[in-house]
This record gives sequence, C-alpha cells and structure tokens, in this order.
Amino acid sequence: MAIRVIRTDEDPILRKRSREVKEINDRITTLLDDMLETMYEADGVGIAAPQVGILRRAIALDVGDGPMKLINPEIIEQEGSEIDVEGCLSVPNFNGTVERPAWVKVKYLDETGEQKEVEATGLFARCLCHEIDHLDGILFRDKYIDEISREDLIKAREANDDEKDTQQ
Ligand code: NI
Repeated sequence: MAIRVIRTDEDPILRKRSREVKEINDRITTLLDDMLETMYEADGVGIAAPQVGILRRAIALDVGDGPMKLINPEIIEQEGSEIDVEGCLSVPNFNGTVERPAWVKVKYLDETGEQKEVEATGLFARCLCHEIDHLDGILFRDKYIDEISREDLIKAREANDDEKDTQQ
C-alpha cells in the first residue's frame, strides 16, 4: 500500500466525471487500498478516486465501523433530508453545512465483483452522497448553505463530545 497525493480545489481533475469500472483487477484493488491508507493518514472518513487523480468510479470510507470499499456506487433510493456540517480532504480549511438525504440505499460492487446494496443514515449516508458527488465532479462547496468557522466547529465537537473529524 502507498500514500497517494490528495488533489485539491484548483485541480481540474476534481471537476471531471469518473468512468465506470468495467473490470476489477489488481490496479483497482491496489487503488482502493491506497485510497484508504491515504484517507486514514489525512484523518478523513471518506475518499473518492478522483481525489487521488484517478477518474474511476471507486470510493472508500470509514465512518467508525471499519473500512468499506465501493466500486461503481449508485444511489438507488433516498428519503428525507438533513442539514449537517461537512468538510473535504480536497477543500482544505473550509467547512460548511450541506443538505443531504436522511436515508439512502446504494448499490455497488465489492472488491470481489459481487453486487451488493447498503442502507445508510446519518454520517454514513452523508459520506456516501459526498463521495458519489466526487465521481461526478461535484464538490460540497458547490452546494453548502452556510460556512462554519474552524472555531465553531471545534466548539460544536466539544459540545457533542465528538472527537472524530468528518473530512471527506
Ligand atoms: Ni470530499
């Protein structure tokens, strides 16, 4: 495994649409392993392939329940809406509130090529939506409602006793 360089804001690759993964081979499984390692190193909870410069539909995340790798993820059902704070490894030093579905069902391929579905709420749902947006060249700062200062974010985390950063 290897740490890869995280592309930031001005990099035009973040604005491109990623291509579907047609074949799950060593390059894809290595990419996903590297993405997870890169994400953990940067204290993130989610990462999408274009953030490391690869335009393939692959995301990885860990919202506290262990690592998860999703290939060709697609939201097939969603319900409700929730507004909460987001950050992004590719948008350093900026946090803002974003409206996302409260519940999503996502279909994807796992690394063995098996078709799976997962249902998610809360941070898990938010993270899936955020990462899938990356695959379509969308950054959370395109849709934020209010900017949240670093100080307010730290205060809110202390109030919630939530140590975990939520950069995606
Ligand atoms: Ni992000």
